[in-house]
Amino acid sequence: MDLQAIASPIQHHLPLFDRVFREAIRSRIGLVDLVTKYLVRQKGKKVRPILVLLSAELCGGVNEKSHRGAALVEILHTATLVHDDVVDDADTRRGLASINAVWKNKIAVLMGDYLLSRGLLVALDHDDFAFLKINSNAVRRMIEGELHQIQRSRKLDMDEEKYLRIIGDKTASLLSTCCEIGATSATDDADAQRRLRDYGELVGLAFQIRDDILDYTGRKSITGKPTGLDLSEKKLTLPLVHALAHARPSERKEILGMIKAGGKKIDVRRIVRFTEDHGGIVYATERARHYAEQAKAQIAAFPDSPSKASLAAFADFVVDREK
Ligand code: IPE
Ligand code: IPE
Ligand code: MG
Ligand code: MG
Repeated sequence: MDLQAIASPIQHHLPLFDRVFREAIRSRIGLVDLVTKYLVRQKGKKVRPILVLLSAELCGGVNEKSHRGAALVEILHTATLVHDDVVDDADTRRGLASINAVWKNKIAVLMGDYLLSRGLLVALDHDDFAFLKINSNAVRRMIEGELHQIQRSRKLDMDEEKYLRIIGDKTASLLSTCCEIGATSATDDADAQRRLRDYGELVGLAFQIRDDILDYTGRKSITGKPTGLDLSEKKLTLPLVHALAHARPSERKEILGMIKAGGKKIDVRRIVRFTEDHGGIVYATERARHYAEQAKAQIAAFPDSPSKASLAAFADFVVDREK
């Protein structure tokens, strides 16, 4: 199923989401407003708001609070992407030039901070303290995850366990928050909230593993962002971590040496071939599928409904997606 079909149970709520999102990031400062208008044009998949709304639908129905939650998470997500492209030195995002490419790092850093504060204000303006609590923890995890990744890349020190910790923090934390916020907006049932939180965390691991595979196998024209970038940033992700663990020591040393030297020394195609030859892509795909299945198990006990079917389909979608 594609994302549009997955979103169909909450499709009619998306125009309101767009409006709330746009309103929430508006500014009277001309430059800020210019950049936010550009961000609205840079269309993402809206995975996170869709998750909020589907989770709310599953737990009793979408309401105004769910909409604030959806806007909040998409704003935080946008903030982290704006910062991420500075950190990763990426020139393209969602098929358009990144904010740092158009306006330089200085403005991208400040815009990311602006968005972060606007996101948190969406919750505070309505005294949604439960949202704030859930979110602040996710923000902390995302930032720690990014910094942890940088720390590891400096030493080229990575194994599967550390990798999982990093992607759990930098990506799964927010997807987990989306599902928990959606549930919390619609029900007080702590068990339902917990099951959706766990679903989101697991689906988030699968999501980032697929993102990391696409950095090897994807096409920029489809993903809308540069590929091969993780290697140039010395990010060792699961496909390569697995390949390195299964290569001969001499070859392992050669590949690591190439990454360490960096810059023009990195032969991306050679490393992709090495990764494929040692089963790295296949293995990472298997692991993504494993987490997707575990995610589905978290929601199995809910009565059947279109929103439940969509959340299950979403778990499959993240593993199969090309963008
Ligand atoms: C990109 O997220 C960042 C990751 C966590 C991998 P998405 O792939 O959801 O980005 P957009 O919002 O669709 O651009
Ligand atoms: C960062 O991961 C995801 C965030 C939490 C911002 P990546 O650096 O792999 O994200 P992309 O591939 O640039 O979207
Ligand atoms: Mg990046
Ligand atoms: Mg990536």
